[in-house]
Amino acid sequence: MTGPAAGGDAAGGGLLLEASGISHSFVNAGGRFTLVVERFLLAARERVAVVGPSGCGKSTLLGLLGLALPPDPPSHGQASHGQSSHGQSSHGQAAPREPGRLCLDGQDALALWRRRAGDRLAELRGEAIGFVPQTGGLLPFLTLRENILLCQRITGRLAPRFVADLAACLGIAAQLESLPAQVAVGQRQRAAVARALAHRPRLLLADEPTASVHPTQADQILDLLSYVAERTGAGLVIATHDAARATAAGFRLAPCRPDATEPLTRLAYPGEAA
Ligand SMILES: Nc1ncnc2c1ncn2[C@@H]1O[C@H](COP(=O)(O)OP(=O)(O)O)[C@@H](O)[C@H]1O
Ligand SMILES: [Mg+2]
Repeated sequence: MTGPAAGGDAAGGGLLLEASGISHSFVNAGGRFTLVVERFLLAARERVAVVGPSGCGKSTLLGLLGLALPPDPPSHGQASHGQSSHGQSSHGQAAPREPGRLCLDGQDALALWRRRAGDRLAELRGEAIGFVPQTGGLLPFLTLRENILLCQRITGRLAPRFVADLAACLGIAAQLESLPAQVAVGQRQRAAVARALAHRPRLLLADEPTASVHPTQADQILDLLSYVAERTGAGLVIATHDAARATAAGFRLAPCRPDATEPLTRLAYPGEAA
């Protein structure tokens, strides 16, 4: 099996992502939930599985890391943010008191959120991040090829040969002209992985990539994600409730720890926060 070549300067080492002292809160009819990221460091090319039970905040973490969910305002600010899903930090002790950090690929994303620099955030998201949603998220009216090319089109990084490379690497070359409904679930999932990688992001995020497939396919998907991330030089973060499978596939684990008494989860990786 051949794979796509590592993308440009993506092959270098060092720190790819740092999130520390930030949180995201949801307030809904049932109450409030806060995910506190005490410390999360990801080296370039590292593979990490965020693990924990359903509802502990794994998808919320991917949203924060993927610049799709805003960090809470500093806890002393108590300012309303005016966004529907964005809770306010009314529990003084829940949100971190430090100013926090959210840096991706050398860019200060937290400063962009604080300045509400939506255009720059969208640019950074588009350039640096590939996201595989839990449901795959392919557009049903586009062929697999068109779906995969979408991110390249949006980011202006058209590279049809790289799409062909990825498709060969993922074993879906023969299905590229089919619509999502015309291929098997596993092939759709592979296309979603190819789409997330097509613009050569430095960070690949995958939300529960094994949740809806047969156990034998689950191992294959983890291997595949690891393989293509390595070949393209991307760091990889997945969310999963299956810690044993992720460990067996060679991922390092970042446990989301639900608080015993509050609808609150903390995450510190690597190791415990000081
Ligand atoms: N859009 C939302 N609005 C309100 N509450 C939400 C929203 N998304 C998630 N939550 C709540 O946040 C908590 C964490 O959810 P989530 O991050 O999806 O957990 P996981 O991915 O680990 O299953 C849950 O209590 C969930 O109900
Ligand atoms: Mg989830």
